[in-house]
Amino acid sequence: MPLHIAYTVAEVRRMRWSDSALTWGLVPTMGALHAGHRALIRAARQENARVGVSIFVNPIQFNNPSDLENYPHPLEQDLALLEAEGVDLVWIPEVAAVYPPDFQTEIHLKYISQPLEGIHRPGHFIGVATVVAKLFNVFQPTRAYFGQKDAQQVAVIQQMVRDLNFNLEIVVVPTVREADGLAMSSRNTRLSATERQTATVLVQALRRAVSAWENGEIAAEHLRQLMRDVVLSEPLARLDYVSVADPLSLQEINGPVEQALLSLAVYIGDVRLIDNMQVG
Ligand code: PAF
Repeated sequence: MPLHIAYTVAEVRRMRWSDSALTWGLVPTMGALHAGHRALIRAARQENARVGVSIFVNPIQFNNPSDLENYPHPLEQDLALLEAEGVDLVWIPEVAAVYPPDFQTEIHLKYISQPLEGIHRPGHFIGVATVVAKLFNVFQPTRAYFGQKDAQQVAVIQQMVRDLNFNLEIVVVPTVREADGLAMSSRNTRLSATERQTATVLVQALRRAVSAWENGEIAAEHLRQLMRDVVLSEPLARLDYVSVADPLSLQEINGPVEQALLSLAVYIGDVRLIDNMQVG
């Protein structure tokens, strides 16, 4: 089936329900598609009869206006990738189609959205949960695909799906990395050549802590310090936070680590990057 480009909710619904017996996989995106999105689309392609993608730079999840302004929008390139990957339907709504002037509903998760990104990007997860709930209601997919790179986003969405009884399966796809280990992100395109080299500091910090844990260094504070040291040794990098947290509650661990989500956020120039790995 050729790629169908939809702009309205009605068009998406018409396509989605043209044959109600078919399974649909949804890949929600903000565009500027890369190999990480390609992995999500391929996973969706394997497990569903039809694949839908949304491209919507969701203004309410940006707590920093310049991050929103500078977010890349290479639409032609994105559509070419979707066609090459055999995607059936892409929804590219206008902001007013998602948030009409009288819009007033927000989805707020009390606990899981508070630590980590929740501290450093106030309101971010209200924006994410609200738009993802809308995408689920518009597409009503059988399955929806998200990358492990945004580990807290995955945890927030899984919690929301349980709390609100969304009738779909969440599939989590491992982080896709460049050859030097940098996690794929749409924001990587905003890095200068020097910044791009510096950006590997995130994966280096994580690898340092994972290998220390594997070699028996299990004190959470020591693992956080190892990550901090790697980032602080790089003059072009500015540390936002490092974390060694319980993988379910995302609360910081104090004392010995049996299993944990190691994560960090770092500014490289004015681009804020995040990454994570799990131990145990
Ligand atoms: O991960 C993203 O690209 C966005 O947060 C998402 C899930 C598409 C919601 O806007």
